Amino acid sequence: MPTTSSAPGKVYLFGEHAVVYGEPAVPCAIERRATVRVEERDDGRLRVSAADLSLDGFTVEYGADDGVPNVDVPTALVEAAMGYVDAAVASARDAADRPDAGFDVTIESDIPLGAGLGSSAAVVVAGVDAAARELGVELAPETVAERAYEVEKAVQSGEASRADTFCSAMGGAVRVEGSDCRTLDAPDLPFVVGYDGTSHDTGDLVAGVRALREQYDFARDTVESIGDLVRRGEDALREGDVEELGRLMDVDHGLLAALGVSARSLDEMVWAARDGGAAGAKLTGAGGGGCIVALDRDDGAETALSLTPACEEAFRARLADEGVRAE
Ligand code: PMV
Repeated sequence: MPTTSSAPGKVYLFGEHAVVYGEPAVPCAIERRATVRVEERDDGRLRVSAADLSLDGFTVEYGADDGVPNVDVPTALVEAAMGYVDAAVASARDAADRPDAGFDVTIESDIPLGAGLGSSAAVVVAGVDAAARELGVELAPETVAERAYEVEKAVQSGEASRADTFCSAMGGAVRVEGSDCRTLDAPDLPFVVGYDGTSHDTGDLVAGVRALREQYDFARDTVESIGDLVRRGEDALREGDVEELGRLMDVDHGLLAALGVSARSLDEMVWAARDGGAAGAKLTGAGGGGCIVALDRDDGAETALSLTPACEEAFRARLADEGVRAE
């Protein structure tokens, strides 16, 4: 019997990029999930199939001895996805003290890849959990989060915050500041997501902000301002004040644009959502392209987004109360 786990994607209510420099961030898990099915095989090999990653399906097989794929890897994006799966499986082998365990791994996901919705974190979180359980080890969600963070950090050459992985493992709204991660009480916010159909390279965007911050004091101040804004946003979240949350999201988008990580498509979707009556709208994740998130009290912002040429897909995204779970 294979073992299956799923984990949610996320939107950033506030704080992406600034979280890399120790400021707090508040990501919220959403009901779009990655599902990973794992079955141990006795020849020590790792075979990975992905049917639906907003990509053509692919299958890659790794030898137990060389760790090298024995079929062509179709795209750079698939190669990146494989890196995460490989490292997630290695973490589960380590947790179970079974360094030679082989697996068949199947991934399904309805989270757009590399678009700011935490697709890689969800695959890693579900992968660590499923592979560990397949080897007879039940990990607490906090432990899955920590292991998944180590995986992302290794795959992304040290550039990762705990935000995505902690949020995906725990579910709900969370607050991350450095290594201090906690869950927050939050109302079910009326999120709508606009997706421009493109993906971004988080590492490049993080490097761009780092360079700007080194060159200009205003960029350092902007990062600190995002931190101040997040602390105000936490009060608004506690009070369930959607108007104030929306205002702060608008400001956060402006500050992120000042750091150079917005894009024409993201700005167009943000303005469409606001014109449609959203309480506020901002890009989510690294930026450059991908997704925006808005607070849509009626369906006005969703309708406005679906009529915007820059928007390939608009969808409602309910807060996911549950993080990683057995399926
Ligand atoms: O676009 P995503 O989902 O990879 O989010 C990146 C968020 C950053 O704050 C820019 C980087 C990080 O590791 O927190």
